[in-house]
Amino acid sequence: MKTQVGIIGGGPSGLLLSQLLHLQGIDSVVLERQSREYVLGRIRAGVLEHGFAKLMREARCGERMDREGEIHHGFFIAHDGIRQRIDLHALTGGNSVIVYGQTELTRDLYAARDAAGGQVIHNAEDVKPHAIDSRQPYLTYRRGDDIVRVDCDFIIGCDGFHGVSRKAIPKDKLTEFERVYPFGWLGVLSRTRPVSPELIYATHPRGFALCSLRSQVLSRYYIQVPLADSVEQWSDELFWDELKRRLPDDVAAQLMTGASIEKSIAPLRSYVCEPMRWGSLFLAGDAAHIVPPTGARGLNSAASDVYYLYHALVDHYHHGDDRGLDEYSAKALARVWKGQRFSWWMTTLLHRFPDSSAFERRLQDTDLAYLFSSRQAQASLAENYVGLPF
Ligand code: FAD
Ligand code: PHB
Repeated sequence: MKTQVGIIGGGPSGLLLSQLLHLQGIDSVVLERQSREYVLGRIRAGVLEHGFAKLMREARCGERMDREGEIHHGFFIAHDGIRQRIDLHALTGGNSVIVYGQTELTRDLYAARDAAGGQVIHNAEDVKPHAIDSRQPYLTYRRGDDIVRVDCDFIIGCDGFHGVSRKAIPKDKLTEFERVYPFGWLGVLSRTRPVSPELIYATHPRGFALCSLRSQVLSRYYIQVPLADSVEQWSDELFWDELKRRLPDDVAAQLMTGASIEKSIAPLRSYVCEPMRWGSLFLAGDAAHIVPPTGARGLNSAASDVYYLYHALVDHYHHGDDRGLDEYSAKALARVWKGQRFSWWMTTLLHRFPDSSAFERRLQDTDLAYLFSSRQAQASLAENYVGLPF
């Protein structure tokens, strides 16, 4: 098989890039290890920055997002009985975010690739990038007993944190930066009316909690839990009780509980690898960097990689200009690190760290008091939350 751009991973990064390239007449093949049902069964991101939404529209995949997604002009931070609204719209000169689930967004991208006859190959086993230090790289994957070869001009690794593409870069050429947090998020999806029309990020001595949503009939809640906890330890009843304890009393009193339709624990990690390109291999999204979900940056950071790569590939194929490809890693990383800083800051501000000293806890309280009292501090938070420009 032959294509121009071989993409490993059929998550949001790989599908969006493939669709954008298609609209520019550039051919790609996406190799996805899992089945489509499996990919669509993962409940992940919920908040899209407006730059991401713009890119979805450019990919002609924004119609349902614009119809069914909710525009949020603000969110709340709850601390010590106070609920402070962060007015994104007023603080950023008119910007906002869209609440639209990653599952739905991925469904829309699949539909677009299908409609265009795009090649998204599921259940591709043992995908391997080859000859990435040459100008004739290729991919192989296994289908039953057969090894299938895909020749291409470039390989794009969009295969998430546990994928194979990053591992194909020689170890001595890669620098990794990492922070593992001593807790995870237990998330529950329930068919209940959300407790608040806008998100609430809550700090509490028992740990962080988040009230989010997918629609006005579908709620998504999270609580900070120790890393050693398993989903089996958390019955629905225990989850709701613990969530209520961490929310302001008036919010807890209004919480509508119900059976969970999904429950999972995600560990929290900050990670960046540099560079994001090696020879003919380019990394994008979670394959190169991940953030704790507190600032809702993960998917949005992936979108900016896709934006830079898409323009670089169009310049290469249409104008014979390789500057975008050569500058990709440095350009993408500059924005990635700003997302890292913000996510680390929000995580540090809002979580209870098991080994924190009294001094560190006072600093946390002071940081929150400053945020609640300073419009400038809120404006900085808002600017980062709606997304810095690409
Ligand atoms: P992925 O979505 O991980 O996709 C990678 C794909 O590659 C997968 O389909 C995988 O099956 C496939 N793959 C892996 N290995 C191979 C292989 N060897 N061969 C072939 N295919 C392979 N981000 C936000 O911006 N806002 C939020 O509100 C937010 N909330 C989150 C909440 C939670 C609980 C979690 C866990 C994450 C959240 N994120 C959020 C982060 C966001 O979900 C990720 O950043 C996003 O999924 C990254 O997309 P991706 O396409 O780069 O990687
Ligand atoms: C979600 O709705 O899943 C969500 C929202 C905001 C975050 C993280 C996750 O910061």
